[in-house]
Amino acid sequence: MFRRIVLLAPLLTLCLLCQCQKPSVADVPTPGSTDRSPIDVALLEDGRRAVVVHHTADSVALVDLQTGKVLDEARTGRKPAAVAVHPDGKRLAVSNHWSHDVHFFAVEGNKLVRQAVAPVGPLPRGLLYSNTGDRLFVAVAGADEVVAIDPATHKVTRRWPAPREPRELALSADGRWLAAASSRSGHVRVWNTATGELHWERQIVDAFNLRGLAFTADGDHVICAHVVRRDLPVTKGHIEEGWIIDSRLTRLPLKANVTPPYLQIALDVRGEAMGDPHGLALSPDGKLLAVTGSGSHELILMHTENLPWNTDPGDFIDGRLLDGKQHRRVALGGRPLAAKFAKDRIVIANYLSDALQIVDPGAGKLERTVALSEVRKPTLARHGEAIFYDAKRSHNQWFSCHTCHTDGHTSGQNFDTLNDDSFGTTKLTPTLRNVARTGPWTWHGWQKDLGASVAKSFTDTMYGPPGAKEDVRAVVAFLETLEHPPLPTRDVPKRDVPKRDVPKRADRAIARGAALFSEKARCARCHRPPFYTVPGAYDVKLDSGGSPHDGFNPPSLNGLSDRGPYLHDGRAKTLEEVLRTWHTPRHVGGAALTEDEERDLLAFLRSL
Ligand code: HEC
Ligand code: HEC
Repeated sequence: MFRRIVLLAPLLTLCLLCQCQKPSVADVPTPGSTDRSPIDVALLEDGRRAVVVHHTADSVALVDLQTGKVLDEARTGRKPAAVAVHPDGKRLAVSNHWSHDVHFFAVEGNKLVRQAVAPVGPLPRGLLYSNTGDRLFVAVAGADEVVAIDPATHKVTRRWPAPREPRELALSADGRWLAAASSRSGHVRVWNTATGELHWERQIVDAFNLRGLAFTADGDHVICAHVVRRDLPVTKGHIEEGWIIDSRLTRLPLKANVTPPYLQIALDVRGEAMGDPHGLALSPDGKLLAVTGSGSHELILMHTENLPWNTDPGDFIDGRLLDGKQHRRVALGGRPLAAKFAKDRIVIANYLSDALQIVDPGAGKLERTVALSEVRKPTLARHGEAIFYDAKRSHNQWFSCHTCHTDGHTSGQNFDTLNDDSFGTTKLTPTLRNVARTGPWTWHGWQKDLGASVAKSFTDTMYGPPGAKEDVRAVVAFLETLEHPPLPTRDVPKRDVPKRDVPKRADRAIARGAALFSEKARCARCHRPPFYTVPGAYDVKLDSGGSPHDGFNPPSLNGLSDRGPYLHDGRAKTLEEVLRTWHTPRHVGGAALTEDEERDLLAFLRSL
């Protein structure tokens, strides 16, 4: 069997090398068999070669950017999310979002050789090496932690708490400061890498989906790309004025004791906004700033000198930037994510184009495209995925489905989409993981048809063009692929397992919690396994805030540990608050749970 493959782009000639060359790692997908979905890229040798991680193919590729050839492709863990190159240029690390670990590889000539695997905790994302290369920092999004790993022993040596869903990391040029941006909470934290102490934590007001993060060249500031939520009902007029979701950059001074408001720049152009800012990169001389608009399929280039940073940047980009020189937009298509400077070029990982793109920032032009898989007709679900991430589906391209339902999950934000037939009642954005299996839909459960729900989202949430039948089918097909990531606690034995076979204390607590759930407190009446929901709406004594619909459809309880806030209007920040304040469990007969019982129940809920 031929396993080593070389992909020639752009003519995509397939050339199989002889079997005598042993594969570095077996079972790498063959071109054409799957989408690659490049999600992150890192550069070797000043940009002569690149390493790119393929989110949906569970692989990492070594690419020669000069010839456009994929030199090698090696197996990673599940759903790799980010890649970092060691300062020696000979080693790299890949975070695997779904297998909760980091894979270490060596670059040997034109080959990638896997060397070690380090478990790090749930749902790792961004990672980078310290300047000296003696530590690897990893954002462990599912544990709300940033960890340090010793690359020599592959052991975790330190853990720092970070607010909800730390995702992107950045290091100052001198290596002294480490920053982490928390996607769902809107916080940025900075640590002193020498002492390990927290330098400061700041929250960017109304910000969510925090993405690209970089220190300025002088190390005085950290810049973060993100969106902000405005508190108005989602109508066409409000979208048009930038009163629903805006894209911004925020600049946080490294200096301690600086109070908000922080300086920002609005990125949206009236009539043609920027959708879903993602990757952010500064040129090595600090003069140029590049941000990908993953929803508006573009790269924004801005000269950093005289940028109009403002504590109140307004809803639209500052008119002075629109002189055609200081702010340029380069159309890229697809879903451009990570952007990295390679000397005088910018290399972009374009997820939906299955390609690396090379932009000449001087000319403001897309110069070359390096294909990472064979071109073929997208499947129905992939077509739906493209629509889901497409901000051009919304009025004036301000946001996509993904902006609110981040990566098919939830941003944790409330919006008033007027979907409950009332005005001014915001609802928490529900997760779309498992959504095809957990109807009826909407918090009140009045929507019985998923296709109709999608079609309504096109017109009444996005205020974009009505979706063609084929588009609705495609989005439904994409939604059918969404599931909860396997959590490390997932596979532990539940209550059906005889007690003697339940080895650990945590597992015993889960088993006791399971018994409470189904028998003593009879939660399963409304939250029935395997999805822990039932059709129909129930009055659970929670105010529906003016909606004519009575009661709520019990939400599926799967994936609870990666959610929050909770309940239809996000009123409970934690699961503890759900049970203690709003939705208090009782034994059949009325007795309240003891503290121990509550702990067991929480352990069970978090294991779902
Ligand atoms: C501005 C934020 C926002 C955008 C954009 C958005 N949604 Fe939603 N979505 C919500 C909110 C809030 C709800 C809950 C509404 C309710 O229950 O009344 C929701 C509900 C849903 C539901 C029902 C889920 C369930 O479990 O009950 C589906 C399906 C859905 N959205 C799909 C989409 C699709 C597809 C798009 C893009 C075409 C989209 N949404 C765009 C905020 C958004
Ligand atoms: C009579 C039906 C019913 C019973 C019994 C019931 N629930 Fe619920 N549950 C609901 C409804 C309806 C909601 C949504 C309420 C809202 O969003 O305002 C809900 C919400 C929740 C949530 C929040 C989920 C989220 O994503 O926001 C949790 C957690 C939960 N229930 C756990 C339990 C537990 C544990 C028990 C047993 C002690 C239980 N429920 C018993 C109907 C029920």
